[in-house]
Amino acid sequence: MGIRKTDGQTMRVAIVTGASRGIGRACAEMLARRGIRVFGFSRTAAEGSPDVSNRTGREPAGGMSQPEHIACDVTDSDSVAAGVEAVLARAGRVDIVVCNAGFGIAGPVETAAEAEVQRQFDVNYGGVVRVITAVLPHLRVTQGSIVCVSSVAALLPVPYQAHYSASKAALCALVLALRNEVSAQGVRVSCVLPGDTRTGFTDARWRTGRGAGASGSAGAGAESGGGGGVGVDGGGGGGAHGERAGVGEAANNADAHYPRAEAAIAKMEQDERRGMSADVVARAVVRAALARHPRPMRVVGAPYRLFAVLARVLPTGVVNRLEGMLYG
Ligand SMILES: NC(=O)c1ccc[n+]([C@@H]2O[C@H](COP(=O)([O-])OP(=O)(O)OC[C@H]3O[C@@H](n4cnc5c(N)ncnc54)[C@H](OP(=O)(O)O)[C@@H]3O)[C@@H](O)[C@H]2O)c1
Repeated sequence: MGIRKTDGQTMRVAIVTGASRGIGRACAEMLARRGIRVFGFSRTAAEGSPDVSNRTGREPAGGMSQPEHIACDVTDSDSVAAGVEAVLARAGRVDIVVCNAGFGIAGPVETAAEAEVQRQFDVNYGGVVRVITAVLPHLRVTQGSIVCVSSVAALLPVPYQAHYSASKAALCALVLALRNEVSAQGVRVSCVLPGDTRTGFTDARWRTGRGAGASGSAGAGAESGGGGGVGVDGGGGGGAHGERAGVGEAANNADAHYPRAEAAIAKMEQDERRGMSADVVARAVVRAALARHPRPMRVVGAPYRLFAVLARVLPTGVVNRLEGMLYG
């Protein structure tokens, strides 16, 4: 079932999470240019994307090559389920799912409040699980594919980005396990591991261990669409560090033990700002999404592929020391 193209073929349908900007937007636009009908799931719409969250009717809004926006928060199961239902109501099928929505927190491990760590995993790992759970029954019908956007940090965990690296490593583990669970059902699963990429990701990053209202370089709450961080106080505004009061003075002063953290994070952010374009990553994602036999994991960016090979062949202690010299 689905909309027929002028050549009589059924139009394939993709969902891309985190399609409002950066890598997700590049993936959505690239898939749409390939003649695939794309629905972008994010809390805000990409500029120019028609919002079809509450529209009924089957015709693509904004033309065949324009990704359509569905308002969705991947941390909310009901929102994800409603998003998938909206896609089925409008397009009748799902063939490709790109799990890309994500963000990063940075700072020494011990300065992150529990709620910040939970949020990191809730978006980067839990968000993927929610989406996959909602789409798998439909991908079985179309013999479709899932591509998850992890990070090279999953293979080479970065100091002062431990929780982010761990969330992305968890995602790789999920992909490798799921791949073997569903391959016999005809569903393909793979993940793409980009290195530094020039996107809004750097400005959206939360910095742990800061006073209230200093979540990231773009100001508080960039990740949550301007709402103000974790919001464990339930109020949203200024919430990212509201709960830190409960952690006590000792934790709030922990920063003093990490004199190199600021410089390391600044270097990492500079590398991102000078990183590859989102289109380079999108090409790898689209390739994986359309491949009959996608590789389980594809590292994107020549230097990062070399690092990944070195990480496989050199002793872990050596690789870890080298990473410490780069970022520690
Ligand atoms: N940039 C890099 O250097 C880099 C490197 C390796 C891996 N990655 C990974 O690539 C992916 C895309 O990042 P990017 O660089 O394109 O960053 P970005 O420009 O900040 O885009 C992040 C996207 O995720 C969406 N998002 C965040 N939280 C969400 C939520 N709760 N529900 C729904 N959507 C949510 C955002 O949309 P809304 O705010 O509108 O919801 C946005 O569209 C992430 O998973 C990131 O970890 C990035």
